Amino acid sequence: MDWARLGHKKVREDWRLTLMDRDAAKPGEMTPASYRALMRHQAGAVAVVATICDGQRAGLTATAYSSLSDSPPTILVCVQRRVGAHDLISRSGIFSVNILSADQQAVAEGFAGGSSARGEQRFEGQLWARLETGAPILHNALAALDCKLVESHGFSTHTIFIGRVVDGVTRPEAEPLLYFRGDYWNIGER
Ligand SMILES: Cc1cc2nc3c(=O)[nH]c(=O)nc-3n(C[C@H](O)[C@H](O)[C@H](O)COP(=O)(O)O)c2cc1C
Repeated sequence: MDWARLGHKKVREDWRLTLMDRDAAKPGEMTPASYRALMRHQAGAVAVVATICDGQRAGLTATAYSSLSDSPPTILVCVQRRVGAHDLISRSGIFSVNILSADQQAVAEGFAGGSSARGEQRFEGQLWARLETGAPILHNALAALDCKLVESHGFSTHTIFIGRVVDGVTRPEAEPLLYFRGDYWNIGER
């Protein structure tokens, strides 16, 4: 579909769509803000990615993760280089992906960097266990995947960590916590 031929204004008024701003300084590209404005419409499951290195635990709230393959069982997580857990995941070679349940919004907020809690402090108030690798596994997560780091790929501000999933645990009766348009959603309530 050619937006220009349809006419932007007409499309916006009739179809109630919002066209993104292009980057005036970079012809042919869009701004990071426009990209974020698009991606906030992707409803996603929320996880806490956690690791332990030399006895020190660290973790972050993440939505940029995805299954990569089931044979072998493999998952990828995109982590900003500046996040505290980043270097510890690289060094330890292990991490967990704890997919949060609808009743764990406070956990998501605690690991999202908004509060003053850092490092080990973020783990207080919840129960944590270990499976095969020793990475922290969150009690009552919807599902928790225990991973060995097998590859790391740097891209711009982020590293894509690829993990072989070697163990896991699930809470089948629970509902997921979702993140959509900048807010947390419980599909059982809305
Ligand atoms: C809903 C949500 C999703 C997030 N997803 C990611 C993500 O996929 N990758 C990432 O690196 N940071 C993500 N963040 C930001 C990190 O959680 C945050 O920068 C981090 O906890 C800061 O940790 P630090 O204080 O150790 O630097 C997300 C934040 C929120 C609120």
